[in-house]
Amino acid sequence: MVDIERLANSGALKTKVYIPGKSKQEVKCELGLSKVTKMASNESAIGVSVRAEEAYHEISGLLHIYPDPVSRDLREKLARLLSCSPGNITMGNGADGVIYNLGMAVIGEGDEAIIPETTFPLYETIVKIMRGKPVKTGMDGFRIDLDAMRRAITGKTKIIYLCNPNNPTGDAVEKKEIHDFIASVPEEVLVVIDEAYIDFIAPEEDPCSVTLFTSGRDNLFILRTFSKIFGLAGARIGYGICHEDLVSLIHRIKPPFNVSIIAEHVAAAALDDHQFMARTVDEIRREKELYYRILDQLGLEYVTSHTNFILVDTGLDAKQVFEEILQEGIIVRPCSGYGLPTCIRVTIGTHEENLLFLDTLKHLVSRHKKN
Ligand SMILES: Cc1ncc(COP(=O)(O)O)c(C=O)c1O
Repeated sequence: MVDIERLANSGALKTKVYIPGKSKQEVKCELGLSKVTKMASNESAIGVSVRAEEAYHEISGLLHIYPDPVSRDLREKLARLLSCSPGNITMGNGADGVIYNLGMAVIGEGDEAIIPETTFPLYETIVKIMRGKPVKTGMDGFRIDLDAMRRAITGKTKIIYLCNPNNPTGDAVEKKEIHDFIASVPEEVLVVIDEAYIDFIAPEEDPCSVTLFTSGRDNLFILRTFSKIFGLAGARIGYGICHEDLVSLIHRIKPPFNVSIIAEHVAAAALDDHQFMARTVDEIRREKELYYRILDQLGLEYVTSHTNFILVDTGLDAKQVFEEILQEGIIVRPCSGYGLPTCIRVTIGTHEENLLFLDTLKHLVSRHKKN
């Protein structure tokens, strides 16, 4: 018998399994339903650009070849778009892969990592695996409390994780606040700004932090993904923007071929389709307006979203709400595990999916009012 306690990296023993949203197939089998709608994992309801699809078919003749270990072509293309050097970019197997690579490269035993109480769970996971110490800071309602994060900095702080816009709240910190925050963080502390959802913020709000980095803030690590706006969650590709020495360090420890030849090609093609991106942002924005209107009518609290999902406070037990909505064939995310016991997170779907969800919620609310 394997003694797993003895065998394990003690950091791994401290982690919990990541629980993804249930799959449609799972729910179809469990509940014997023929149609199930998934609105739980913030995937794109709009799908994939035709250009990415074409690139996917074009690459089929090269599947027997290893990919470029450091995705030179794609990094050059991204560097042109972001006005930085390819040496400032590291690619990964999704933003998740980048979070792991960065954690492996920088976090050591006992290093402190500041993480807001309600945010994307993977930061805490990698800190624990590396036997670092997650230091959780309180929220200001549904907002990330930057003052609390600032106050938590000690001589042992190695890294700070700031998800902007934040998952699961959908709220975003304004650029000026981020600016002031970064200016107040000691230069030896690395600030990770996870911008997985940045493209859903109105461009006039000029939200992205890349200009902060290119104007000289070396202690930034900006994280991006192709899973959301580009609809490439299944391809698994994301990237980080940071100082070239940190890129070199990450490239020493990352798995050599961590980005598939398919992912690199479809991502490069997706970057060219500006119309598709604009359409996605437009449609999501329009659908969010529909949500706000109906949620206001239902008298439910929600967070105005800068992402492709909405956090709704149902005022009821989120797990029960999740189960009741599931019975109708719709998968949403209960946020009890995020410390929000009455909130659910709903990914914006197609117009029909959104109408179906809102109608289901309407019935659920009126049922509970009667009881
Ligand atoms: C805030 C945030 N960061 C990172 C990720 C991971 O993205 P990827 O699919 O690129 O691994 C997600 C996925 O939902 C996310 O919400």
